[in-house]
Amino acid sequence: MDKKKILQPVKRPRLEAPTMAIRGPIPNGPLHPRPLIALLDGRDCSIEMPILKDVATVAFCDAQSTSEIHEKVLNEAVGALMWHTITLTKEDLDKFKSLRVIVRVGSGYDNVDVKAAGELGIAVCNVPGYGVEEVADTTVCLILNLYRRTYWLANLVREGKKVTGPEQLREGAQGSARVRGDTLGIVGLGRVGSAVALRAKAFGFNVIFYDPYLQDGVEKSLGITRVYMLQDLLFQSDCVTLHCSLNEHNHHLINDHTIKQMRPGAFLVNTARPLKDAPNLICTPHSAFYSEQSVTELREMAAGEIRRAIIGRIPDSLRNCVNKEYFQGNVRFPFPAYPENMNGAGYPFLTQQQLLWLRRQA
Ligand SMILES: NC(=O)c1ccc[n+]([C@@H]2O[C@H](COP(=O)([O-])OP(=O)(O)OC[C@H]3O[C@@H](n4cnc5c(N)ncnc54)[C@H](O)[C@@H]3O)[C@@H](O)[C@H]2O)c1
Repeated sequence: MDKKKILQPVKRPRLEAPTMAIRGPIPNGPLHPRPLIALLDGRDCSIEMPILKDVATVAFCDAQSTSEIHEKVLNEAVGALMWHTITLTKEDLDKFKSLRVIVRVGSGYDNVDVKAAGELGIAVCNVPGYGVEEVADTTVCLILNLYRRTYWLANLVREGKKVTGPEQLREGAQGSARVRGDTLGIVGLGRVGSAVALRAKAFGFNVIFYDPYLQDGVEKSLGITRVYMLQDLLFQSDCVTLHCSLNEHNHHLINDHTIKQMRPGAFLVNTARPLKDAPNLICTPHSAFYSEQSVTELREMAAGEIRRAIIGRIPDSLRNCVNKEYFQGNVRFPFPAYPENMNGAGYPFLTQQQLLWLRRQA
């Protein structure tokens, strides 16, 4: 046997030069000023700052619309964090001259024109999954309130009404119903929908769901029943709860016509987006996701995504980019471009010689 051959180290396959990302990284480090990241509609950056301060300058705008955003941010911000209290239309996005990534501090992103952003070369990301347990718990809380009339009964007591004897009780607690054995219909069995299904089962609900986008089998893993038509769900459910993400196909999914397909007296719970002006309504603010823990987690995750954008590549390094399908890499580069073969990903690992060369070019 040829010993030489055996002892020869196996050659590792050569790593291909990284493929060119659609856009380069956000320049960072000693060659350029720290990129500017702006929180558009808020003031408090106390959670984001420790995550970003070594790679970016963080500013807040506390704006309700882009007309309130400072010129410097419009011209220089390469990253934006935004809650749900500001909307970015195509016209708004056009005002940002250097923007490369937007992170919605939340899961819904219907307040950003993601298509227009993609066409401008701006990646849009969200933070899915941060408050799933809170929204599911709130949903169950609302469902139980409808069944057990807790909210209305508590109001009676607060108003000083006497609810003691059987007659008064019958009147005050009218509509209270038993949960066990009723059918709960879940529209949209994503993260929140499935968490609601698990909780509802424990209360004795017979759980059914409608979600045309899921593969077969999910009903088996959760031990619930699938229906393939929204009408079937509405027809069978004693209580309907909405958990589909808003998109162009399901806008106004629940309307006058579909409500008429529900069983008489059935309940409707909506933690996806609030209903307005309906009678017999418990209306809460956009707070279902809220707990101290979930908001901290949410903000850490959003800042983490911005950080990945800064030190990595857009959109490849992003975990939750929601507009990749529209993303075009032919737009503005805010700082002098790096040499093509570098494309940022290798930047932290540059040799001293390469760094010197780059400094000379800058
Ligand atoms: N109230 C709050 O505080 C709060 C907080 C977080 C999320 N949300 C909302 O809750 C909803 C669900 O969030 P998630 O994280 O579970 O989203 P998700 O993306 O995990 O799940 C959404 C599900 O809806 C399904 N779906 C889409 N269109 C549908 C349709 N026409 N019919 C039936 N199903 C459809 C999808 O297939 C998916 O499985 C979103 O609207 C989100 O904005 C509200």
